[in-house]
Amino acid sequence: MAGAADLKALADRAVAEIAACPDDAALEAARVRYLGRKDGAVTQATKQIAALPANEKPAYGAAVNEARARIENALEVRGATLRGARVDHSLGEREDLTLPGRPVRIGRLHPITATIRDVSRVFATMGFETVEGPEIETDYYNFEALNIPPGHPAREKWDTLWVSNPLGDDPKKPLLGRTHTSPMQVRIMEQRRPPIRVVVPGRCYRYEATDAIHESILFQYEGLAIDEKLTMADLKGVLYSFARQIFGSKSNVRFRPDYFPFTEPSAEIAFSCVICEGKDPQCHTCGGDGWIEAAGCGMVHPDVLRRVGYDPDRYQGFAFGGGIERLAMVMSGVPDIRLFAQNDLGFLENF
Ligand code: PHE
Repeated sequence: MAGAADLKALADRAVAEIAACPDDAALEAARVRYLGRKDGAVTQATKQIAALPANEKPAYGAAVNEARARIENALEVRGATLRGARVDHSLGEREDLTLPGRPVRIGRLHPITATIRDVSRVFATMGFETVEGPEIETDYYNFEALNIPPGHPAREKWDTLWVSNPLGDDPKKPLLGRTHTSPMQVRIMEQRRPPIRVVVPGRCYRYEATDAIHESILFQYEGLAIDEKLTMADLKGVLYSFARQIFGSKSNVRFRPDYFPFTEPSAEIAFSCVICEGKDPQCHTCGGDGWIEAAGCGMVHPDVLRRVGYDPDRYQGFAFGGGIERLAMVMSGVPDIRLFAQNDLGFLENF
């Protein structure tokens, strides 16, 4: 039977071997050799304790424990050294810590989103709250509630994309991608009581042949104000203020008579060209005449008010609707509306 002295010699040998292990595999082999559960040398020695006479057990047991503790410690120390060497190695070989850091790509707002926020911010200064509405509309809100019954010639002005409901179509309620944001005039008036002041930015859909100024998916902003003493002068004041806050104090606004079934009287608004200031007959932005047609507007038609239960003798108001892309193009000198939806980072990174 091995004595305490043999155990000390065993531990000395093990510690020396472990310290010389060149890699993880050798270290694991050494662990099994000494501490392995079945045949490890220290395990064997432990099993012998039971066979010893009682008076020898304590000293021998203590020697076994000491040998185990020394070997475990040696394994631990060597393991840590090997791991450290691996880290040093990989850092030294694969990473050049003196290289500059990789730049983080900073995101930014899409120019259309930025323009919508500008529009909302400017109208907020005049007390208009920004709200949003559904992009898929019923025929009622998009047309009928706005004085455009089936067969009305004004429908031809809006090239419409009809959609079908996957849950089943209701023939009495045909659905379409809204052709303008004006249906929200009606929805808001149904939901609220005057005074009302809202601006509604959002996507619209038209069946268009696309070119540099036409897209089949476009953004509009709608404005609506209803109160007891509103006149066309208020409409003009609001839109002058809008133009000057967006384009600067030199910009001008032109009103010309127009026709919309849901406003009476109606007008077309044009902003003076901030790119050429009317001086370049070849200007791409205004086409040379110095004005950019920007929006439609007018006083809300009494029949539209009646339909939502408002008394037109008590309440009046004005509405306007314009294109967001058109504004963004003028503000940033973008020559082609189609650029906004092409996801071209080379273009988007200019903003
Ligand atoms: N919805 C109209 C269009 O898309 C614009 C408009 C809005 C006109 C509000 C009058 C009042 O052309």
